[in-house]
Amino acid sequence: EKNELQKIGEDKIKKGHYAVITMAGGQGTRLGHSGPKGTYALETINGKKYIFEIIVDTLKQANAKYGVSIPWYIMTSRENNKETIEFLEQNNYFGYNKENVKFFVQGELPLIDIKGKIILDKNGKIKEAADGNGGIYEAFAREGLIKELKNNKIDWIFVSGIDNILSNFVDPVLLGLTIKEENVIASKSVVKTNPKEKVGVFCKMNGKPKVIEYIDLPEEMAEERDENNELVYGNVNIGTYLYNRSVFEDLADAKLPYHAAFKKSGYLDLNGEFIEPEEPNVYKFEAFIFDAFPRYNEMTILRVKRQDEFAPIKNRTGNDSPETAIKLYNEKYK
Ligand code: UD1
Repeated sequence: EKNELQKIGEDKIKKGHYAVITMAGGQGTRLGHSGPKGTYALETINGKKYIFEIIVDTLKQANAKYGVSIPWYIMTSRENNKETIEFLEQNNYFGYNKENVKFFVQGELPLIDIKGKIILDKNGKIKEAADGNGGIYEAFAREGLIKELKNNKIDWIFVSGIDNILSNFVDPVLLGLTIKEENVIASKSVVKTNPKEKVGVFCKMNGKPKVIEYIDLPEEMAEERDENNELVYGNVNIGTYLYNRSVFEDLADAKLPYHAAFKKSGYLDLNGEFIEPEEPNVYKFEAFIFDAFPRYNEMTILRVKRQDEFAPIKNRTGNDSPETAIKLYNEKYK
């Protein structure tokens, strides 16, 4: 069956009907790196590699294999757009054809203090921050890119985050399976290591596909096991999504719910003095990319091997850090 699916997917990719989006608008605060996450360098068995370079390596391998040049879209935010473009320019796009790389900037939302008031930044302007990875649909459409996909006959778009250095984002088997199941959205999962792992999981809510974040999953549900002693909510969302172009068309004006996070942010006080708070003082609002899924009846989910496809870099040390990711990368490329 795998061979059959692979053939269906490869056929689409070889005909040039496939594009890739990298979501790189996040701030990477947990990693403690001052620039965009993609500009972080790792010491690997293949030498020093920037995260962006690792993504380019994956794209180049696919291009060589399928005889194509896959269009690569990079979602940035206002805060890191300039730096991201400059970095890739300086590094000559790591040898990727510049003509095939496009940037688009996600939207922003104001921060709000505990009294529900907007706050001001150093320059006396309303302080805003990136609107979460759910901003992707609106931003992509706003920059005229859906039309571009249509003109270039691109039917399938694979979206993944900047922080998973093993992301296998040119995957004919997933594409073949999605086409065979007649779905328009797909994703991949890995098995959750333990009930406390800090990840989102796939589930169905009111019959519709959904990702539920660890913060929102009640403990007893996180611990629940089936007759094979596997976690019932044990399919981890690894942040990789495949879409038919029609979904991007449908969601261009979609309003997704906002999730609030309590964060620290400097602000101008009433005397015009800039204050750097020591405790969280504002709410930041973020839309999540997967909150669009319950609008569809079904989606395809392919379970893959963690060691093959999931090496996230989130934290400076410990779990999901450069150290753990490099180890997985080295094992794979050995
Ligand atoms: C995310 C998933 C979680 C999943 C985990 C796997 C979300 C909301 N949650 O968690 O379900 O289990 O990955 O690693 O996606 N980004 C932007 N703009 C933003 C915010 C984020 O482009 O405004 C990008 C980041 O650069 C990153 C990706 O989205 O590539 C995910 O970022 P983040 O919001 O940090 O989610 P996680 O907590 O990592």
